[in-house]
Amino acid sequence: MSVMRKVLLAGSQSVWLREKAMRWSFVRRSVSTFMPGERPEDALDAAGTLKGAKINTILTRLGESLAGAEDSHAVADHYIRVMDMVAERGLDAQISVKPTQLAYDQDKELCFQLLKRLLDHAKQRNNIIWIDMESSEYVDGTIALFKRGREYSDRIGIALQAYLYRTEKDIEDLLPLGCHIRLVKGAYLEPATVAYPDKKDVDENYFKLAVRMLQPDAIAAGTMLHIATHDMALVERLRAVIRERGVTRANVEFAMLYGIQRGAQQTLVEQGEPLRVLISYGEYWFPWYMRRLAERPANVWFVLKNLFS
Ligand code: FDA
Repeated sequence: MSVMRKVLLAGSQSVWLREKAMRWSFVRRSVSTFMPGERPEDALDAAGTLKGAKINTILTRLGESLAGAEDSHAVADHYIRVMDMVAERGLDAQISVKPTQLAYDQDKELCFQLLKRLLDHAKQRNNIIWIDMESSEYVDGTIALFKRGREYSDRIGIALQAYLYRTEKDIEDLLPLGCHIRLVKGAYLEPATVAYPDKKDVDENYFKLAVRMLQPDAIAAGTMLHIATHDMALVERLRAVIRERGVTRANVEFAMLYGIQRGAQQTLVEQGEPLRVLISYGEYWFPWYMRRLAERPANVWFVLKNLFS
């Protein structure tokens, strides 16, 4: 892992830096590349524009490790309102949520009850609730939460990270459930004891895991794989596997983040691939934004350019 990436990921956890950076206008200008705005309406407007380009969406309100149970009730209320707005606007926009937004750290039972509320509403509104994966200490708990949620409803999906050694086993455990799985490389600062330190190993593991989830037994079980990456070399390798095995849209979609690889997003859709773009919004964008910078340290120059423009 590069020094710059390590510094940026460590910075994402700094309260001091967060409080300063969120006020600097040049930082706010740079954030707008990856985020259409802070309000849910901004995200919904962007989702409407993407729909015009045949791209469906996933919406997520930024914020993690919230302070108390009260905040988490407000998060659940918020997403329920957003699901209503999605339906009113005729969008195909799913929801993605972090367990720590739903009081996971404070009260695990409350977290499950809030998730159930979201799943009930997702059923009414024909929607899907994705559970994001956070740093490695949350993986056991997040998978347990997902399994409980999956027993209750099939309107649920989970993100798994290819940089973790354990993910191969986690996938074998989850595949018989026939569920929605979003495969990502992983965005947190993890030690070499739990995660591949070299990017090329993460990339190869990603390919291997995705191919596993495209095997006939996984497809027959009802897996819906989200190939969530901007790595076009990987995307092309996986497209070849998808074609060869005749996997259809019922079992696979590509997923990318708003504002990243826009040209490639458009090309994929023009070539007939199903694509979802995850749109983030909300006021608490600092740690998330630092993770985006860490994914591509060249973005730091883009931030600095905004300082002088
Ligand atoms: P990689 O980092 O190799 O990037 C490939 C290419 O894409 C780069 O060379 C560059 O051109 C471009 N690129 C990538 N990131 C960029 C950026 N920030 N700015 C500009 N260009 C960029 N992680 C996690 O731990 N838990 C989660 O729940 C999720 N959820 C999630 C959902 C979706 C839909 C996506 C697409 C991603 C996530 N992630 C995530 C983030 C993920 O783990 C990973 O950090 C990023 O997707 C970057 O890795 P890539 O797979 O894109 O490859």
